[in-house]
Amino acid sequence: MVQKEIISKTADFVRSVLKDAEGGHDWFHIERVWKNAKHIAEHEDVDLFIVELGALLHDIADAKFYDGDENIGPEKAERFLKSIGIERSVIDHIKNIIRNISYKSGLDAKNTKRFSSKEMQVIQDADRLDAIGAIGIARTFNYGGFKNREIYNPEIKPEINLTKEAYKKSTAPTINHFYEKLLLLKNQMNTEAGKKIAENRHKYMEDFLEQFYKEWDGER
Ligand code: ADP
Ligand code: NI
Repeated sequence: MVQKEIISKTADFVRSVLKDAEGGHDWFHIERVWKNAKHIAEHEDVDLFIVELGALLHDIADAKFYDGDENIGPEKAERFLKSIGIERSVIDHIKNIIRNISYKSGLDAKNTKRFSSKEMQVIQDADRLDAIGAIGIARTFNYGGFKNREIYNPEIKPEINLTKEAYKKSTAPTINHFYEKLLLLKNQMNTEAGKKIAENRHKYMEDFLEQFYKEWDGER
């Protein structure tokens, strides 16, 4: 199979697996990350085939929707890639990307020898861009609603510097997630192209929060 065909088969697979996914982690999230990853890759010296496969498969089974099981995603990806005859070195790279790309795996203090690759950094930036800006705001409130969280509660203060365990357990109001993750992403971008796009999206979230508190306080 030529690479183009493999990518298209993978897209079909992901689309069908995610057909009932939560709105912020559905096929459209994958499609946006895929597009952004391809754009960022134009400015980087990377293997585009790995970038595309990794972007398509990165949320194939997010642990937070599987009782915290962090093996299901890499295993699902492996089974699929094997079934279409992909070579071992590519499968291993993709599994490493899925395992290490998430925000919370970066919070894991025990994980000192983390895997990294240029391809993963590109996909990670694309994933982070989809977590900020207008789309980021929409996804975050959708996830909060999905978990039946409060929108905001002035009495519950955000906690920055959460450990991986505390981050996963948090049931805090959705606004807190901006301080616990979203506003921190701008300074964690890996690539120059990613940083540039992140600037605007970051500013948009700051403006949103300012307006939100004004309205909360009854300004008309
Ligand atoms: P990662 O998998 O990289 O650790 P997540 O999957 O937790 O990151 O985050 C993806 C998106 O899901 C976030 O950008 C946000 O929109 C939403 N999300 C995750 N956790 C929360 C939360 N506690 N409150 C609100 N939204 C969340
Ligand atoms: Ni994602």
